[in-house]
Amino acid sequence: MKKQPTLPATQTPHMLDFISHSPAQTERIGQRLGELVAPGDVLLLMGDFGVGKTHLVKGAVRGLGSSDLVTSPSFVLINEYQTQAHPRKLTIYHVDLYRIDDPHELAGIGLEELWESQGVCLIEWAERAEEWLPADHLTIYMQHLAETKRVLRFVPHGVRYQQLVNAFKDEAFG
Ligand SMILES: Nc1ncnc2c1ncn2[C@@H]1O[C@H](COP(=O)(O)OP(=O)(O)OP(=O)(O)O)[C@@H](O)[C@H]1O
Ligand SMILES: [Mg+2]
Repeated sequence: MKKQPTLPATQTPHMLDFISHSPAQTERIGQRLGELVAPGDVLLLMGDFGVGKTHLVKGAVRGLGSSDLVTSPSFVLINEYQTQAHPRKLTIYHVDLYRIDDPHELAGIGLEELWESQGVCLIEWAERAEEWLPADHLTIYMQHLAETKRVLRFVPHGVRYQQLVNAFKDEAFG
């Protein structure tokens, strides 16, 4: 049985919760986040099947300034998108680890090179990789509440991601 993620019970001062009422709203949340993401950032998306991880990524890719088509990389593991030169030229790595049963399978694939690069990493089913991922990152937990209602929880790990969540709060609610 694969583990089903749930929202972490612990509260940290920088975390942020909100509700999405539609796929379009989840994309807009992703877009706002994408507008604040910087080269080298790592965002982990955790949550059950069909909770909306790929929709959030779609918005984030748009917010980063790419018009590339976002598709689910469930079979290929990694999709790459490019942003235009303006405002900044970047590579976005969209990773889906659903098919990884054991984190050891990740050895030798070269995923580390992605987060050591100046690209941006958006990783679905990141719970499959457990402690193997970089210590500093933003985790986005998503959970079903109803047919089109989802709860999203941003949990930053490390100062850079606390700043990112605070900047998001200022933009969204400030
Ligand atoms: N508030 C919502 N936010 C996002 N998606 C929603 C919402 N309400 C309904 N949906 C629907 O849920 C589905 C989410 O699909 P999506 O591919 O984004 O999920 P996923 O988490 O990436 O799934 P998987 O685990 O298979 O990768 C879509 O069919 C979308 O229309
Ligand atoms: Mg997906």
